[in-house]
Amino acid sequence: MYTKEQVREHVEELLDPSAEKTFAETGGLRFLDIDEEKDVVNLIIALEKLEDDYKRYVTRALAKLIKLDLGFTGVKAEFELLKRSESILARERKVKYVGIASGKGGVGKSTVAANLAYALKTLGKKVGIIDADIYGSSIPTILDMKITLPQGTDDEKLLPFNKDGIELISTEFFLAPDKPLMWRGPMLGKMLNHFFYDVVWSPEIEYILVDLPPGTGDVAMDIQALIPQCKMIIVTTPHASASHVAVKAGFASEQLKHELLGVVENMSYLNHAGEELRIFGTGGGDIVAKKLHTNVLATIPIGQPKNSLSIFGPDEEIGLDYLGLANKIIKAY
Ligand SMILES: Nc1ncnc2c1ncn2[C@@H]1O[C@H](COP(=O)(O)OP(=O)(O)O)[C@@H](O)[C@H]1O
Ligand SMILES: [Mg+2]
Repeated sequence: MYTKEQVREHVEELLDPSAEKTFAETGGLRFLDIDEEKDVVNLIIALEKLEDDYKRYVTRALAKLIKLDLGFTGVKAEFELLKRSESILARERKVKYVGIASGKGGVGKSTVAANLAYALKTLGKKVGIIDADIYGSSIPTILDMKITLPQGTDDEKLLPFNKDGIELISTEFFLAPDKPLMWRGPMLGKMLNHFFYDVVWSPEIEYILVDLPPGTGDVAMDIQALIPQCKMIIVTTPHASASHVAVKAGFASEQLKHELLGVVENMSYLNHAGEELRIFGTGGGDIVAKKLHTNVLATIPIGQPKNSLSIFGPDEEIGLDYLGLANKIIKAY
């Protein structure tokens, strides 16, 4: 039985005949999922030219690879156009993607992502956020934004939302209020593709922060595979229950060849009457950094901002911690 990663590696060696390059080179393998019940591999493939001859060629190559060589019962491929124009490619090369991951939910991943965005902005950087935590997206709430349907362009691209100059795209904008996301498999793959390839960010965008789903499940890994040039921040709390799984998330990112920028220990302590109370224990951030051979970039205490739901200003102590984090990210990238 082949794993998804193994199948992915094989498919990426196949040729996009319309580009005369492999899918690893074009980035055309947009989605891959194994339906274990039916023993079928589902794919979304983007071709440089979407002509019937090319589709037939790839369909045959896929059937040979997946059914004959790898032994699956079936293969189902959908094709789309590789829409990345040269200008978009050029921009993507310049844009620095920062993935924010954690082993479990509730450790403050989204809060850190949003505050990091503001801190980078304070340091003069133009920032976008992809809220890709599809099952628990929360950035619009953290930024106190109204949920509306995003605007499309004539060529089926998406315009991001803007809050205080920070651009944002989120699954939350595509869902009915208070309804969970039920999409799976190819549908989910399609939407995520849309997020990563079809958003018209401002040309000045320098950093795109990606709030990833927690853990090392299929969806979290699929999303990370969509951003090959991403560097990672791992968020944990001081407690072993968080750090234990944060280490796994770090290893999973490394498997996808994503460089680690470092670790953020959130909810590290509570400042009370001049004392730092370690109410969630100690050591989580250090353990994760040590096991992943990287550094602790910031320790953020427990606290609430003065003037906003979740965003700390540069005049607040925790706001300064986030500025320090932003500074390190700029230096390390
Ligand atoms: N340093 C902190 N101090 C106090 N509350 C925090 C802190 N960091 C996060 N929170 C709160 O903890 C909860 C979970 O944070 P969130 O960013 O949504 O976590 P995740 O994205 O990892 O699930 C939220 O209610 C958030 O406001
Ligand atoms: Mg979150």
